[in-house]
Amino acid sequence: MNSQLDEAVAVLKRGGLVAFPTETVYGLGADAGNPEAIGKLYAAKGRPADHPVIVHVAGMANLNEWAREITPIARQLAQRFWPGPLTLILKRAPCVSDVVTGGQDTVGLRIPSHPIAHALLEKFGGGIAAPSANRFGRVSATLAEHVRREFGDAVDFVFDGGECDVGIESTIVDATGSAPVLLRPGHITARDIEQAAGIALAAPTAHSPRAPGTLAAHYAPATPLLVMEGDLLLELAATLTRQGKRVAVLARSALQPLLAGVVWTAAPREAQQYAHDLYANLRTLDAAGCDALLVEELPQGPDWAAVNDRLLRAAAGARPSSTA
Ligand code: TXA
Ligand code: MG
Repeated sequence: MNSQLDEAVAVLKRGGLVAFPTETVYGLGADAGNPEAIGKLYAAKGRPADHPVIVHVAGMANLNEWAREITPIARQLAQRFWPGPLTLILKRAPCVSDVVTGGQDTVGLRIPSHPIAHALLEKFGGGIAAPSANRFGRVSATLAEHVRREFGDAVDFVFDGGECDVGIESTIVDATGSAPVLLRPGHITARDIEQAAGIALAAPTAHSPRAPGTLAAHYAPATPLLVMEGDLLLELAATLTRQGKRVAVLARSALQPLLAGVVWTAAPREAQQYAHDLYANLRTLDAAGCDALLVEELPQGPDWAAVNDRLLRAAAGARPSSTA
């Protein structure tokens, strides 16, 4: 791993882009202290300039370089969940560039636990700005191969760390106030946050930091995606097939995949495993080039909140009229 680390650090130092694994999804990294490098990152992703990026750091000692105020809530959550799949929104330090924060007065910070991400951050020394390694609005990457296929030569170095453990992006919490506000659900659930903070989550207000990446349309495959209850799904799959359309299905229950020509993927029954496999499953089904991708509706409740959130946005993003 050492020679790869040296090469990745050299690329970051000269303002290049390095894709690297984290415990959530692959990140597309650039030196967070180099606005030009972050410009390249936005260009590669095709991301609008007012979208802030998360700054990844090696440890708590680095926080003050990026945040000017570490609230008691932030300390409690950091102690409980870092290193790990949590992003905290804090008031930004004066030197943090507008290209990192999207012009907001806050900065998103995360200390990842993945050994490669950690080693890279330690060796690099500075903060690494890293959005998920996918083109804007599209499905995140959980394998190095996904990143290579999506970006080709636009990325200078891809660090292959195999599959990401969690499979969906970090939980984002606004920790600027006296009560935490959940901005993006993830593997760390609302219940986990409330327990660790010892206080109930507050609802987002007009003053909560904007998390523009939590757009209604996001995480979308190219194939139109619909989420529906199992019986309806079978009916629609049969109807579409009769009309000569090709259908892809992602379903947890043992719905009988007897329909000829339907591309079928059996999804895990358990929430964490479902999340782990979600993006790879969506990519595989998308690659089948069908006319529709039908996803069986999931249970409600805190354990399913994060994947339900991703599927809703994927469905919205896959409708051509709503992709901005
Ligand atoms: O798990 C993750 O969080 C992955 C890995 C690579 O760390 N990263 C990731 O980044 O998902 P991205 O850019 O795809 O999503 C970050 C989200 C976006 O919705 C962005 O708007 C929000 O975080 N965000 C970043 N900084 C923010 C800030 N200062 N205030 C509000 N939202 C912020
Ligand atoms: Mg993303």
